[in-house]
Amino acid sequence: MTATVTATAPGKLIILGEHAVVYGKPAVALAIDRRMRCTLSKASDATVNGRPLDVTKQPYIGNMMRHSPFPIRAETESSIPSGSGLGSSAALSTAFLKALNRLKGDDVDDKRLAEDAFLIEYEAQGRASPLDTSASTHGMGIALNGPEDSGDHLWDISKNGNTWSVRDIKIPKMTLVVGYTGIHAPTGPLVEKVRRYRNKCRFAVDMVNEIGKITLDGINALKKNDLVTLGKLMTDDHKLLSILGVSCNELNKLVNTSLRYSYGAKLTGAGGGGSMIALTDCPEKVCESISMRGGTPFVVRTGEPGAMIEKDRFK
Ligand code: MEV
Repeated sequence: MTATVTATAPGKLIILGEHAVVYGKPAVALAIDRRMRCTLSKASDATVNGRPLDVTKQPYIGNMMRHSPFPIRAETESSIPSGSGLGSSAALSTAFLKALNRLKGDDVDDKRLAEDAFLIEYEAQGRASPLDTSASTHGMGIALNGPEDSGDHLWDISKNGNTWSVRDIKIPKMTLVVGYTGIHAPTGPLVEKVRRYRNKCRFAVDMVNEIGKITLDGINALKKNDLVTLGKLMTDDHKLLSILGVSCNELNKLVNTSLRYSYGAKLTGAGGGGSMIALTDCPEKVCESISMRGGTPFVVRTGEPGAMIEKDRFK
């Protein structure tokens, strides 16, 4: 019987389409070379990193442990800053469930894993799309609700009257710099802010629709390897997200300073802090500019594999 299992899953960045994707619009996300590692074993009591599970502080793990038929000792280790907009909670849910399924002896395919991890996100965070958990499960690049010719169909996920089709999307070689503001910004309240704005105001509905159109153009630009157009669309997307109220001064500062040496730049993820990304041929200059404006820059490698079992040990 398997006694201890270690699984890992990547973080992600969103090139185009965050927030609008919650309403069924298209979005594109890439897995990055920052990962979450979860090591699980059966135990007499539920613990996380050597301490008793505290469901108020660890709602995602609490929800997953609730779905387990036995108590679990969990060790987690991550190179994805939490609340950074880089998919740390989705990577946690995906890596944890990947390890838990193996521990239980369940043979679960990627569609089920992405769906189960999405439901954990949904339970802990409120309204959400399956973008982050699908990116973390599949790795590489994915498009949600992209046109049929955007890539091979992977799976569909439905919730609350929305269905998202998930496609594998081929990504050209490109360099992306992340600028982390250092501001921890949980996703749930930002998604809720957009929901309220959109319910109240026709203008916000139009902004969400416009983000959807920009993202479709971006998928086309990606196909043609047209980084100039893609960069411009990313910057336009940032402006629309700012109008929707999910940017902040720190993000705007890092985006503006990066634009001098980039094809384009935008916030990535939920916003409100977290991180921005810049598409560039001059990563050193962009990193320097981000540092000078108080952000933490790093160059990300894309083309990362999705959730995987790293190790399992048998009794
Ligand atoms: C968060 O990484 C992306 C959002 O679109 C929320 C979601 O899709 O669940 C803001």
